[in-house]
Amino acid sequence: MAVAAPHRSVLYMPASNLRALEKGRTLPVDALILDLEDAVAPDQKALARTQAVAVLAEGGFAPRRVALRINGPETPWGAEDLEAALTAAPDAILLPKVETAETVVRVAARCDAAKTRVWAMMETARGLLAAREIAAAPGLEAMVMGTNDLARELQCRDRSDRRPLLTGLQLCLLAARMAGLIALDGVYNAFRDAEGFRRECEDGRDLGFDGKTLIHPGQIEIANTVFAPDIEELAAARDTVRAFREAKAAGAGVAVLNGRIVENLHVEIAERTLARAAAISAREQAA
Ligand code: COA
Ligand code: MG
Repeated sequence: MAVAAPHRSVLYMPASNLRALEKGRTLPVDALILDLEDAVAPDQKALARTQAVAVLAEGGFAPRRVALRINGPETPWGAEDLEAALTAAPDAILLPKVETAETVVRVAARCDAAKTRVWAMMETARGLLAAREIAAAPGLEAMVMGTNDLARELQCRDRSDRRPLLTGLQLCLLAARMAGLIALDGVYNAFRDAEGFRRECEDGRDLGFDGKTLIHPGQIEIANTVFAPDIEELAAARDTVRAFREAKAAGAGVAVLNGRIVENLHVEIAERTLARAAAISAREQAA
């Protein structure tokens, strides 16, 4: 079973911070998001754009994937950001506050799909309610939850169980899975709180997300660990595949393993887990 390259850890870095951008070439992340949008102050927008284009031209980020988050088309910087992004041709252009499929289609139509895909920030009420149409837009590769913006719009409380965000997270995930896209969870703001961060990674993983967006290098290792299958999970996956194979050889359509039924679909899940582990191991050997 072929699965996509891992996207366990996806680190934002303000493109105004040259030191951070250069560090990106050595950090053990699966992907980077060079940000021109909310992490950059208005008087630094032009500098950030110039620096992002320069480091992308220099390259040296592989095997990490690199996305460039541009400002929205309605802002004073959006049009120039888009032209710069199309020229720089990162692995992905991340569009903020996407609310319609047309926004994606318009940018995707101008990208060479072999080089540059479109990613969409899902972070407004309107965007999440249109998640299904947005996910179906040709050229889209990933949906990225913007939980801070969503919480602002919802006027909800910041709760450690994220109950107020659950519907939004799941709308995003449903749409992403419908369309076979990568689904990335939002950021954890208290970047020095490792325990809270781990819990939130586990929550995102259990919901079905492929990985987490990060704001600080100190978060990378935990995200890489939590979003990878662990030893017990791998052992269980191998046992599942074996039990089913043995049952099938004996002429049965289902197997029983540790008191639980094993059907074809469980084998499919197990095979996906094994394929994810293989993709992670290939990624780590490439680093
Ligand atoms: N990417 C790359 N490197 C980063 C980084 C990031 N997002 N955040 C911190 N670093 C680097 C720092 O440059 C510093 O490097 P150095 O030791 O070589 O100087 C090192 O990690 C330690 O940084 P630290 O002092 O712990 O953090 P800070 O107080 O300087 O910065 C933040 C904290 C939150 C301001 C910073 O992490 C940041 O800007 N994060 C990204 C925010 C963002 O992009 N938001 C938009 C999406 S929500
Ligand atoms: Mg946002």
